[in-house]
Amino acid sequence: MPRPVPRLRTVPATGALPAGPRRILVLGAGGFVGSHLVPRLARRPGAEIVAVDRTLDKLEPGLPAVRRIEADIAKPGLLDELIRRAEVVVSLTALCNPALYNTRPLDVIDASFSDLLPVVKLCAARSRWLVHFSTCEVYGRTALDPRGRAMRKMVEDETALFLGPVQRERWTYAAAKQLLERVIWAHGQHGGLPFTIVRPFNVIGPRMDFIPGVDGDGIPRVLACFMHALMTGAPLQLVDGGRQRRSFLDVGEFVTAIERLLERPQASQGQIFNLGSPRNDFTIRALARALAAAYRKLRPQEPAPRLESVSAEAFYGPGYDDTAARIPSVAKAARLLGWRPRRTLAEMLPEIVGDYLARYAPIPTARARVAEAAGRSGR
Ligand code: UGA
Repeated sequence: MPRPVPRLRTVPATGALPAGPRRILVLGAGGFVGSHLVPRLARRPGAEIVAVDRTLDKLEPGLPAVRRIEADIAKPGLLDELIRRAEVVVSLTALCNPALYNTRPLDVIDASFSDLLPVVKLCAARSRWLVHFSTCEVYGRTALDPRGRAMRKMVEDETALFLGPVQRERWTYAAAKQLLERVIWAHGQHGGLPFTIVRPFNVIGPRMDFIPGVDGDGIPRVLACFMHALMTGAPLQLVDGGRQRRSFLDVGEFVTAIERLLERPQASQGQIFNLGSPRNDFTIRALARALAAAYRKLRPQEPAPRLESVSAEAFYGPGYDDTAARIPSVAKAARLLGWRPRRTLAEMLPEIVGDYLARYAPIPTARARVAEAAGRSGR
């Protein structure tokens, strides 16, 4: 007989909404999402945030309610001590970049599963609320109902998880993430772990990923790939023509959903939530065009960006595979959290492009490189 999931005691409300827990441990706080989430959590009355990551460079310095710890979560004794003191553990750490799934699959499996098992076990042992960030990748290639019939949207407690064959190493990440979800679920059902699982759908915003050769190496996710191309005058590469679809969610709205679920433990514990924006379902080609247009508005002097098709094998290497379409149902988040994403892609892009231009301004622009080359050849 499954045991009911214990509910976290809520802190008395200070306003219209309950305040939620105050002592929050954020693992992976130095990444893109953490750099948006931690400052927002730190503004909450009485907050005491412990932010842990190998590097915290992206995280705004000097936040008064934040204790920064630059360390690997595998450091002996670290997790035990920090989890003991926390009311909630927000687990963000991951290697969530498709270019790694078929090139460093063992690292991906460790980062998504093996390294996180101790986090789950410690939270279970101490009955700490674990808010775990999983992924929309668990749905796999496309949305299917339990009988294998196509669905338009991916629904948390209904849609099948449809991964490709083992030879397609793209799915190492999804498989590892799915197994950890199942471990968390089992601890909740049979061991009393209070948990919430979040499946983010293509969250985008300022500070996402890295620019190759500047603050990272390899291939980042599509937004940073396209920004890199725009800023260097290279063509935007559309994998297999860019017909695949994604639904893009603004990182600010994503963080609002996380705040809501922390404020509502009664509603959110024991649940899995899709967090994405069904209204922003676009092809990758459409994303490339929209981003190029937003870029040209800020850099009208630059030459017109070019798009070019490239095969997935040439771009990612063997073992890659893709999701054809990925639209979240967010009905559960609306019902239980009162959360509905509203921002359109067109509203998000100018701020994102502006952020990349501000942070990577020293990258020579296409025009500057052409001028430099002309100068060198004496023209
Ligand atoms: C990735 C991660 O695997 C997910 O865990 C994560 O939830 C998701 O990003 C996310 O950002 O939320 P995916 O959407 O496939 O999944 O990764 P992207 O790098 O954002 O690629 C989106 C699509 O653009 C893919 O079809 C890819 O082939 C394509 N792409 C990528 C291009 O056409 N050109 C590029 O330069 C890069």
